[in-house]
Amino acid sequence: MMQRLSWTAFFALMTLAGCFAQQKLISQVHLSWSEDPQTTMSITWQSSKPLSSPVVQYGEGNTLSQTAMARRIRYEQETGPLYQVTLRNLKPDTLYSYRVGDAGKGWSEVRTFRTAPSKPPARFVFTAFADHGVTPAAEQNVRRVLSGEKPAFHIIMGDLSYANGNQPVWDSWFEEIEPLASQVPFMACPGNHEDERGIRFATYLARFALPGKELYYRFDYGGVRFIMFNSQDFRDAEQLRWFEQELREAHRDSEVRWVIVSMHHPLYSSTVRRLNDTARIEVLQPLFDKYRPDLVLLGHHHNYERTYPLLSMKPRSHHPNRYSRGQGVIYVTSGGGGKSLYDLTPEQPAFTAKRERCYQYLRITVSDRSLVVECYRTEDNSLLDRFEIVR
Ligand SMILES: [Fe+2]
Repeated sequence: MMQRLSWTAFFALMTLAGCFAQQKLISQVHLSWSEDPQTTMSITWQSSKPLSSPVVQYGEGNTLSQTAMARRIRYEQETGPLYQVTLRNLKPDTLYSYRVGDAGKGWSEVRTFRTAPSKPPARFVFTAFADHGVTPAAEQNVRRVLSGEKPAFHIIMGDLSYANGNQPVWDSWFEEIEPLASQVPFMACPGNHEDERGIRFATYLARFALPGKELYYRFDYGGVRFIMFNSQDFRDAEQLRWFEQELREAHRDSEVRWVIVSMHHPLYSSTVRRLNDTARIEVLQPLFDKYRPDLVLLGHHHNYERTYPLLSMKPRSHHPNRYSRGQGVIYVTSGGGGKSLYDLTPEQPAFTAKRERCYQYLRITVSDRSLVVECYRTEDNSLLDRFEIVR
């Protein structure tokens, strides 16, 4: 009863916040990379009325000495004027300040971001979750990610707002993530809920600035190759050709220290409502087994489930938390981003090393020698799982 009351109160508050956001001149400011993370930054926002001269003021440190014009982004179902700009010719590993708006009408708050380093750093941290939504847990998860060491960027493995065609929910979601996304690039891949009825991925494509085809792409940060796959369209032949080529190339590239794949749908799972995905196993397991990316980040199933290093679904090690690179593929489902939770089967499958029904987020520390993956419970920020992959 209490939970239901608090949820109702939260939704009323978010609706009010949504109305307020509509009255604020600038809202939903978020960062992403659509080009080189070392020298560019893309910024997207919405305004409550059209801006005659939409710009970003930015500069190194706390200066705002430079200006870049934004372009108007349109899609048929938009709820207000959207603007996007990509800042170019930035210096690597440099802190910048920025604000967006219009000299005649007003500005957002001043925020900061940092570009990617040109050489792999000794270590860096990024965070991730999936299946987020607009809920108290989702909002708390945004605060949790920000409460620790600030990540270099955040990955969201699909199912972002759960708007399902109701466009103002996208506004509420972008307001919810703004405290994080206006300081830390948000790198998304699409889930089934981004595939909105009648318009497919139109909202996702308009409201995010991502590399290449945006539904699937790659980016490099600190010697790590991030390969983002659209598992909603997992049979798409063009995407599959691209995916195999990326996996193959990543292995041959001497600049690449680690290979991390992100996509929405898990292959293996023990939630009561969704077990193993036989169709995706048939198409994707041979590629994963052959090229062995170091880590696969997933969502869709609303809980935490992490496998041992697997080949053909079989564990290659039963150590609880330490693995050698290339032993097998470790799949991490972090579907407890905030939307809701699913029950797990009574029996834990042989491929699962750790699982729990709770809201959570991932904090991943990358260095030359190891990938350390930590999962924290959203409710109390306690450590749920920690493992490392070493070379
Ligand atoms: Fe999903």
